[in-house]
Amino acid sequence: SRQKEMIHNVLYVYRDISEKKRDFSDIKSKFSLRTPEKADEDTCLIVPGQETSVAQCSFNYTSKTFVVIHGWTVTGMYESWVPKLVKALYTREPYSNVIVVDWLAFASLHYPVSAAYTKMVGKDVATFVNWMEEQLGYSLDKVHLLGYSLGAHAAGIAGSLTDKKINRITGLDPAGPHFEYAEESVRLSADDAVFVDVLHTYTRGTPDRSIGIQKPVGHIDIYPNGGGFQPGCNFVEAIRLIAESGLQDADQLVKCSHERSIHLFIDFPLCMKEKRIMGIPLELQRKNRFNNLGYKVNRVEKARRTATNGFEDSRTHKCLYKRKKVPLFHYQVKIHFFGKVNTTKTTQPLLISLYGTKKESENIDFILPEISTNKTQSFLIYTEVDIGELLIVKLQWEKDSIFSLTDWWNTPEFGIQRLRVKAGETQKKLVFCSPSGISYLKKGGDSVEFVRCHGKI
Ligand SMILES: *[C@@H]1O[C@H](CO)[C@@H](O)[C@H](O)[C@H]1NC(C)=O
Ligand SMILES: *[C@@H]1O[C@H](CO)[C@@H](O)[C@H](O)[C@H]1NC(C)=O
Ligand SMILES: *[C@@H]1O[C@H](CO)[C@@H](O)[C@H](O)[C@H]1NC(C)=O
Repeated sequence: SRQKEMIHNVLYVYRDISEKKRDFSDIKSKFSLRTPEKADEDTCLIVPGQETSVAQCSFNYTSKTFVVIHGWTVTGMYESWVPKLVKALYTREPYSNVIVVDWLAFASLHYPVSAAYTKMVGKDVATFVNWMEEQLGYSLDKVHLLGYSLGAHAAGIAGSLTDKKINRITGLDPAGPHFEYAEESVRLSADDAVFVDVLHTYTRGTPDRSIGIQKPVGHIDIYPNGGGFQPGCNFVEAIRLIAESGLQDADQLVKCSHERSIHLFIDFPLCMKEKRIMGIPLELQRKNRFNNLGYKVNRVEKARRTATNGFEDSRTHKCLYKRKKVPLFHYQVKIHFFGKVNTTKTTQPLLISLYGTKKESENIDFILPEISTNKTQSFLIYTEVDIGELLIVKLQWEKDSIFSLTDWWNTPEFGIQRLRVKAGETQKKLVFCSPSGISYLKKGGDSVEFVRCHGKI
């Protein structure tokens, strides 16, 4: 035991040295301990490496800690859900520490650039909680990361880098673009925490910056209303409202489904009290009650891919849920748009229909972020229908609901020779050709059909 003691001392000293040597200067994220009274203000920053900052911020060591990580932001400012979530967490756990991670400076860049910065944020968060654990003896059993959109992947990366496992990560509609097919190490995945639960609320359409990842990535993945557009977040309705009330609301409306995950999460405790949360098997709710610890991972394995139906609007606070398993089939589609004149159209509404050996799924609507002359676009579509082997694809370009003068005089049109489709489940790649060599997709025009190519591609 003397030897043990010596080893302990050596380790202790070594750790002490490594701690002193540890460089915190490359940490770019900021850790703001919010208060229930000033949920929307950064009043006190905890600085990794500076113990005094922890005491100054009145960090409560005996309580649990929520770490909230925001996502991509157009404005470079916190979005309105941040203080709402902070408040909701304090209502639920009055003594807890709610820390908001500020990486706004990197989250307001071009989406792919911000997406790449999730690695840095994840590393920063891991360094922060490792330091809290090592240096201040704060157990990672008390840490719960909540990440929205890109923030969910940052949380996942953080969880994969900590020395011990973080207790829980909640992914609030984790971002899809750049992550749908990414390796587990760079996105949120089930082994990033003891318990990983994920809400998917905007899992359809294009790999646009505002959509969520479609595949299940946690121990429990919940797809309220199948994970598509949420009630009250109808796109056509959104367009109509934009026409009526101007563009400043457009952003809010389009983000509606994506952000719904946060509002649903905020309502979770209310539902939990009634023990009627759907999508989660009842015995699991009893055992775990969703925020307890010491959770057996294999228990939840079965709950994967559970989708839900009938999530009530968050305003009504009702939990009348039906359980329903909805498998999601997704396809990645790649199209090259030919044209004689240079044209670029953004956020275009399209419809795609898939006809297969088993069934068809018609008029799946989605928004293409951009269509440009002589450029290739790729996007994701999803359907709940198992169509079997895909045989025919039809594409239609819808008119905007808003009257557009330029489109009126000069209806845009692009030539398409073929569509490349990759099935998400089988990863099988198929190519579909225009029967006439090239077909013209015209805004507001008829649908265009593509069939499996024979021979030459
Ligand atoms: C810290 O949290 C505990 C509950 O975890 C509570 O009993 C205690 O009063 C809190 N301390 C302060 C100073 O708020
Ligand atoms: C696009 O590419 C086609 C064929 O490669 C060419 O004929 C056409 O002029 C190009 N369009 C523009 C606007 O450059
Ligand atoms: C279209 O744009 C490309 C690059 O932006 C340019 O190389 C090409 O010459 C343009 N074509 C026409 C017809 O303006």
